[in-house]
Amino acid sequence: MDFGLKVAVLLMLAFVSTLSPVVPASDHRHWRRNRAKGSSSQGNDGDLVTDLPGQPVVDFRHYAGYVTVNEKNGRALFYWFYETMSHPDEKPLVLWLNGGPGCSSVGYGATQEIGPFLVDTGGHAIKFNNFSWNREANMLFLESPVGVGFSYSNTSTDYKKIGDEFTANDAYTFLHQWFLKFPSYRTRTFYIAGESYAGKYIPELAELIYDKNKDPSLYIDLKGILKLKISSYEQLGNPETNDAEDWRGMMDYAWSHAVISDETHRLIRENCDFYSNDTWSNKTCSQAVDEASISTRRLIFTASTHQNALQALLLQLTNPYTKSC
Ligand SMILES: *[C@@H]1O[C@H](CO)[C@@H](O)[C@H](O)[C@H]1NC(C)=O
Ligand SMILES: *[C@@H]1O[C@H](CO)[C@@H](O)[C@H](O)[C@H]1NC(C)=O
Ligand SMILES: *[C@@H]1O[C@H](CO)[C@@H](O)[C@H](O)[C@H]1NC(C)=O
Ligand SMILES: *[C@@H]1O[C@H](CO)[C@@H](O)[C@H](O)[C@H]1NC(C)=O
Repeated sequence: MDFGLKVAVLLMLAFVSTLSPVVPASDHRHWRRNRAKGSSSQGNDGDLVTDLPGQPVVDFRHYAGYVTVNEKNGRALFYWFYETMSHPDEKPLVLWLNGGPGCSSVGYGATQEIGPFLVDTGGHAIKFNNFSWNREANMLFLESPVGVGFSYSNTSTDYKKIGDEFTANDAYTFLHQWFLKFPSYRTRTFYIAGESYAGKYIPELAELIYDKNKDPSLYIDLKGILKLKISSYEQLGNPETNDAEDWRGMMDYAWSHAVISDETHRLIRENCDFYSNDTWSNKTCSQAVDEASISTRRLIFTASTHQNALQALLLQLTNPYTKSC
């Protein structure tokens, strides 16, 4: 596969140091539920979210709406876009995808994980998330493919055609149509991030962009991809690739970060056949993996005593109460 992208950026903050602003900085805009003057974006007025019930007062704008990806069949994808908390014109654009297949990027990523407004316990209110990724990037949450969240098709047979390639093609079309609504982001430094099954969506979309980029008129400035696995159990940064490799990768990662001992790691290496149909019937293996999971959980609670932003980000990403999707 001719796929020359830099992949597997593990830490979100990595891209902050690689900023290459294309669009010059404009005025610092304050958005407080009033129509702001001098928007740098066009064609998106109808999508501006002006008054979300219970929304905390914020200084950034956010937009939500549909982008048609297939006129003939009437397919439209829903997005929610949060500009960066400060200087959006200087910050990169990050497309965020949840996994599943079938998980809503609005229902999980944006409102339970990394967006600026999280749904409070019980679903009665929204609260501001000080560790939202839109502190550093313009965050575009996409519900993908059709059938997920608010995204839909008017042609019911479309739902029978859904697969990874179909998903990638619609997401690609979405991007170009979205850029027509938000032209100031057209040439912006671009990243794709996501979790869980998006570990499959992300490289497929990245490869499509890479291939189509040979046509200069379609060029998207894709700089990198970021794949995460957020899970109630494994709790380690790791995307969905295939189960056996995921388990091995998680255990090696835990060991290489001093979360588990050399001895536990050795037991896992020697007794776990993650390719087998009944990995867990080997008691030595299942006990060692259990121990690794408990150690990981302990580490996460220790990390919560540190208050710097990166630790908090990691804590949030590995929050044991966050559902994996
Ligand atoms: C789907 O059908 C509805 C009802 O006719 C229409 O309002 C909507 O615009 C259609 N969606 C697309 C993407 O064409
Ligand atoms: C939110 O984060 C910013 C930047 O890290 C920090 O300066 C501020 O004190 C935080 N606010 C709260 C309420 O934690
Ligand atoms: C686990 O697997 C290893 C390697 O195949 C084997 O040597 C060991 O006896 C197994 N242990 C149990 C309890 O099944
Ligand atoms: C695992 O299960 C599949 C499907 O049930 C079967 O085809 C395969 O032979 C099994 N593999 C092993 C190693 O038992």
